[in-house]
Amino acid sequence: MRDHAEARGFLIGTALATGPLSGEASYRDIAGSEFNVVTAENAMKWDATEPQQGQFNFSGADQIMDFAEANGQTVHGHTLVWHNQTPGWVQNLDANAMRTAMRNHIDTVVGRYAGRIPSWDVVNEVFNENGGMRDSFWYQRLGESYIADAFRAARAADPNAELCINDYNVEGINAKSTAMYNLVSRLRGQGVPIDCVGIQGHLSIQYGFPNDLRQNIQRFADLGVDVKITELDVRVSTPADANELATQATYYRNVIDACLAVSRCDQLTVWGFTDKHSWVPDTFPGEGAALPYDQNYQPKPAYQALHDALAG
Ligand code: G3I
Repeated sequence: MRDHAEARGFLIGTALATGPLSGEASYRDIAGSEFNVVTAENAMKWDATEPQQGQFNFSGADQIMDFAEANGQTVHGHTLVWHNQTPGWVQNLDANAMRTAMRNHIDTVVGRYAGRIPSWDVVNEVFNENGGMRDSFWYQRLGESYIADAFRAARAADPNAELCINDYNVEGINAKSTAMYNLVSRLRGQGVPIDCVGIQGHLSIQYGFPNDLRQNIQRFADLGVDVKITELDVRVSTPADANELATQATYYRNVIDACLAVSRCDQLTVWGFTDKHSWVPDTFPGEGAALPYDQNYQPKPAYQALHDALAG
């Protein structure tokens, strides 16, 4: 996949977990050869990088960064401001202290990797399904202004990094993706430095394919932002049968085709690449097998689908 992606100037990526990256040669071999961009699945999140206020720990983040650089890969940063995997000390701050902590966190993390991490998920999952703002501790304490603030802080910390807003269930045109569209449009109108929209892409064959994905990508592109598919996986019921894996492959193919059809859609990242290491079964019991390689690192029809789309 990597060679074909590079031939067309496209980024094909995977999320990486630090455990198997240390422990499994097959994991390292595929991660290093099939992808040209990687995302830290957990290692760059707030609970990993600043577990106590002002005490930063970049061991996992550096492990991902070093692997990427050793393999000539780029890194997509994930994520600076989120309501999950953020330590209690942040959540308990009052408004002024929370704003200051957010700016300091962004300044320190983005600043450390300035010039080495060309794109960041600055804010993650800020919307409800109905298009309202998620009632997170960020929103409760700071109101919507934390979003603009986060982007401005990230721009200041690395003026050359591409800054993204990232969310799930925004593949098709719906209340949530329209709220995202409206927010990006409004904030850019106010000069807030948002360069990119991340569409996560956690799909299930049970819910049907979002057939207006391409149209949705196009409307964001028409706003003047890049679009990235940031966390693609397609879960099926387990154990998966051949029909399910064939359907899954068509989902992968449809997603990459939609992205490749819009020139501003420059990256597709899968959220892990092997069914051996995936968040899905932990969160959706009875579902899984969501990734392009099986538990034994053998490529599945979904791999072939991505490969053929990139080669075509
Ligand atoms: O690190 C601890 C370990 O010390 C402990 O022993 C173990 C016991 O449960 O937990 C480990 O932490 C887990 C962590 O992954 C690292 O493996 C957490 O429990 C677990 O909740 C966490 O799950 C991650 C999840 O985000 C948490 O929000 C998944 O790996 C990760 O794939 C998932 O990724 C998110 C994206 O960041 C944002 N979009 C949705 C996506 C899927 O939920």
